[in-house]
Amino acid sequence: MPDSYLKVTIFRDERTLARSLAERLASDLALQPRQVLGLATGRTPVRLYHELGTLHAHGRADFSQVVTFNLDEFWGLPPDDPGSYRSFMDVHLFNRVGITPEQVNFLRGDADDADAECERYDRAIASADGIDLQLLGIGTNGHIGFNEPSRELAARTHRVRLKESTRRSNAALFGGDVSRVPTEALSMGMGSILRARRIVLIATGKSKARCVERLLTGPITTKLPASFLQLHSAVEVMLDTAAGEFVHS
Ligand code: GLP
Repeated sequence: MPDSYLKVTIFRDERTLARSLAERLASDLALQPRQVLGLATGRTPVRLYHELGTLHAHGRADFSQVVTFNLDEFWGLPPDDPGSYRSFMDVHLFNRVGITPEQVNFLRGDADDADAECERYDRAIASADGIDLQLLGIGTNGHIGFNEPSRELAARTHRVRLKESTRRSNAALFGGDVSRVPTEALSMGMGSILRARRIVLIATGKSKARCVERLLTGPITTKLPASFLQLHSAVEVMLDTAAGEFVHS
């Protein structure tokens, strides 16, 4: 395999990856408590969030000065809907580490006007002086946030129609019923993501091996939105052995 521009680390398993990243984030926070964190949802970061919860419970991860921005939210859902990404974050991270609503920035899926909501979000990111660390997962089709493969990609926060495969992989949030997964979402755009000062992408499991291989070695293409990360100078890709099966060191 040709060398990747991106820094890649492979961990024995998902748990080791989550622990190592959680320890690192906690140490970073000890050195620089006021950070703007860009956060992701999905199955992949759940272990990391729970590890951070454990460190916080032991007094080893202080989130009291962080400001957060999440990548995306389903269009049409209020924040307190159990299927919303906001609810997901409350359950898996915010409530576990004492992040208060005042520290949280989130796209509102129930806003009256999607365009105005997206503009509000971009302005909020700018007034926070941008994102210090953006955490990303990756969809099996190479999407990041909800930037789906397409002929062109939006730079700014925008409204997006979700692919069926993406709706299927989000069905667990809706009791496994794909028909209840919203058809649209609001998502930070590629420009907003690539402006983050540092980016950490995590991927685990065999189902991610192909998109990870394309991310690391393929061309930069709107057909694989994550491939644009090759243009960023401070990206780290953290994999378990299953997701990294095509990566040879
Ligand atoms: C979701 C989210 C993404 C996430 C991706 C992977 O649709 N919008 O931010 O990275 O899909 O999800 P998972 O970690 O469950 O595989």
